[in-house]
Amino acid sequence: MHYLGGKFRSKKQICEYLKEVIEKNDIKEYIEPFCGSLWITSELAKHDLDINYTVSDSHKALIAMWKEMQQGWIPDFPDDTTELEKIYDNLKLTKHTEFTPMHGFIGFSCGYSGKYFGGFARGHNDGSYAKTCWNSIKKHKLRHLSKFNFDCCDYTQYNGVKDALIYCDPPYEKTTKYSSNFDSSQFWDWVREMSKDNIVLVSECQAPDDFQSVLDINVDRGIRSGKGNVSYKIQTEGLYQAILP
Ligand SMILES: C[S@@+](CC[C@H](N)C(=O)[O-])C[C@H]1O[C@@H](n2cnc3c(N)ncnc32)[C@H](O)[C@@H]1O
Repeated sequence: MHYLGGKFRSKKQICEYLKEVIEKNDIKEYIEPFCGSLWITSELAKHDLDINYTVSDSHKALIAMWKEMQQGWIPDFPDDTTELEKIYDNLKLTKHTEFTPMHGFIGFSCGYSGKYFGGFARGHNDGSYAKTCWNSIKKHKLRHLSKFNFDCCDYTQYNGVKDALIYCDPPYEKTTKYSSNFDSSQFWDWVREMSKDNIVLVSECQAPDDFQSVLDINVDRGIRSGKGNVSYKIQTEGLYQAILP
């Protein structure tokens, strides 16, 4: 499943590290407040760890989609791309007012580069992006969904939590200026506070000076130019932890 900022390429390395932390510290509560397309949680769940998974995101249609799939919902969409585009255009009209599972599924699966209704992505010869996305969900995620407690909330909802491993994959600071109004400095303050009673790990390309990277990962990222050409660039992402006084 294509998802803007999704951790498909680095999921294995990140989860190996999270697993070690869970086992070494006898963690029972795992919390992921920016779960997105579930690449990390689903990978972690493969390890059959004895932990509670709380996964959330502030995106209403996304969480509506995961909750509905957890209950057995199968999205119904046409194979024909022209028909699919009509459904996409129709749902897009209400993307700010309605947050149904179908808005979540079509908005993300057919949105260009995995961006919610970010322009209709046509797909390849072997089918539409909706089909590719559903096949990917079936292959990688569906069997794990029953283990997860889903919530739709802001990350600050976890204020006061103790003794958990909290893995955060927020919108990246250097991209948020253009795409959302996520306040990164407020977020780092929250991580400092939560790190007093929990183990908090953050995926980012950069962090304030009182954080250190415990795992550096080189990711081959496709960068699309205004003309639509894609060039590849190795980007180093860290897994950051607060240096406690
Ligand atoms: C980089 S993506 C996470 C990608 C995810 N790790 C994956 O592999 O698919 C960041 C996520 O943060 C969510 N988000 C943005 N602001 C948020 C907030 N204030 N509280 C909770 N989630 C938020 C977005 O909806 C998005 O799904």
